[in-house]
Formats: sequence, structure tokens, C-alpha cells
Amino acid sequence: MDTIESLKAGPLPRHLAIIMDGNGRWAKQRGKLRIFGHENGVKAVRETVENSAKLGIEFLTLYAFSTENWKRPKLEVDTLMNLLVSSLKKELKTLHKNNIRLNAIGNIDSLPSKAYAELQEVIEKTSKNSGMVLTLALSYGAREELKHAIQEISLKVKNNIISPENIDDTIINSHLYTHNLPDVDLLVRTSGEHRISNFLLWQIAYAELYFMDVFWPDFREEHLAEAIKNYQNRERRFGKTSEQLN
Ligand code: IPE
Ligand code: IPE
Ligand code: MG
Repeated sequence: MDTIESLKAGPLPRHLAIIMDGNGRWAKQRGKLRIFGHENGVKAVRETVENSAKLGIEFLTLYAFSTENWKRPKLEVDTLMNLLVSSLKKELKTLHKNNIRLNAIGNIDSLPSKAYAELQEVIEKTSKNSGMVLTLALSYGAREELKHAIQEISLKVKNNIISPENIDDTIINSHLYTHNLPDVDLLVRTSGEHRISNFLLWQIAYAELYFMDVFWPDFREEHLAEAIKNYQNRERRFGKTSEQLN
């Protein structure tokens, strides 16, 4: 098994994004309610955050709650929001210890007021940390993000602040929730599903994708190491030929 330490020598994804999936099925396998799976997913979040920081990942983005997840039963949504609040309270120490700065993307205004306030507090309290940037995608949907960016750019065009022929990648990037993050290098999804589920559609244009069967609550250092190791053995050509890269 590759340990995190042994992977430090190879190329690392600058921006790692993870679709943390499979909490519900993990609980169901044990004859428990879905919320038991979410409660047990918290440990995997803590370990992954710490291991990523130790490895030297600059940007870690975790898909925690999608715009579509609001359609789940109220008990489940409430549990997820309560877990967010309690985890933020509990993990502030861990973030400081590892010099991590918290960031959030998504329609944050739509979160319950308690979750919104706690999130803002931890973002503010960690804003001086200079290590890894941990971004939580909360009430996040890529289509909503793009719609929002198009609306803002359109308004600037209308008011003659931007001319249509000048709209380029840089301008589009600057209107996304992720304006202060680089493109994703490696996208990992757990639980065996092979789909993107409305996550970072623009930002993964050239990301390496890695799908794993493990359910999120079982995700440990060895799984992170497996994904990174696989990434290190890939050739990222960005449209060029293999020969051109050397
Ligand atoms: C991921 O696990 C957590 C969230 C989407 C909030 P799920 O809750 O989607 O678990 P499965 O996919 O139903 O097993
Ligand atoms: C994606 O997982 C969202 C998060 C992990 C937060 P879902 O479980 O909601 O995705 P679908 O519905 O199976 O595509
Ligand atoms: Mg799921």
C-alpha cells in the first residue's frame, strides 16, 4: 500500500475535488437509517482534509450538498445541516492545526441561518491561514453557477462595462463561485457511480477523473493514496501529442 508520504515525490494534483458519495447505501447495508451514514461520513471528511494538507495539496474541494439535495426528505436535509454546524464547530481546531483556510462555493445564502452564520465565522477565523484552501460546495449546482455568471456578465455588457468580443476564459472564471481557485486537476467520486451530478462543469474541462467503489464513510488514507497514485501514472496531454510533451 502506498502511504501519503511516499506519494510526495511525484506530481500532485494542485486542485483535488471529491464527490463524497455513498453514505446512504453504507447505512442501508448495515440496516440503519441514511442519516447514520452521514454521521459516519464526518470522520472520512476529517481524515481526508488532514491527509490532503499533509500531502501538500494546495486546493481541496468537497461536494457536500448539491442544489438537488434540497429535494431529499426533510429529516435528512435537517440532519445534514446540523452535521455541518457541529462539524464546523468541532473542526476549527483541526483547520488551525493544519494551517487550512476554509472557503465555500454555492448558493450559500440559501442555507439555514445557523449553518450560514457558523460557516461565515469559520471562514473568517481561518482567513489568515496560509496552507491548503478547503472549499466546501454547499447548495452548489454547476448550472446555477453558470446561469448566475451569465446573468452578471450580461448585465455588464448591457451597461457597457464589458464588450461581447472581449468575453474570454478569464472573464468567465472571474464570475464563477470558484473565481479564486485554479481548474480541477483530479476529480474523485466514491460509491461506484460514474457521473458528475452537476459538480464544477466548467472547472473540470481537463480534469483527470477517478471513480472508486468505496462508500464515503469507508474512505481512508489508503483510498486517497490509491487515487493520487493513479493520477501520478497518467499523461496529461491537453490536446497535444505525447511526443510534444517531452
Ligand atoms: C453522499 O451520500 C452525501 C450527500 C449527497 C449529501 P448519499 O447520501 O448520496 O448516499 P447514497 O448515494 O444515497 O448512498
Ligand atoms: C452528489 O451526490 C452530491 C454530493 C455528493 C453532495 P448525489 O447522491 O446527490 O448524486 P446523484 O443524485 O446520485 O446523482
Ligand atoms: Mg448519492
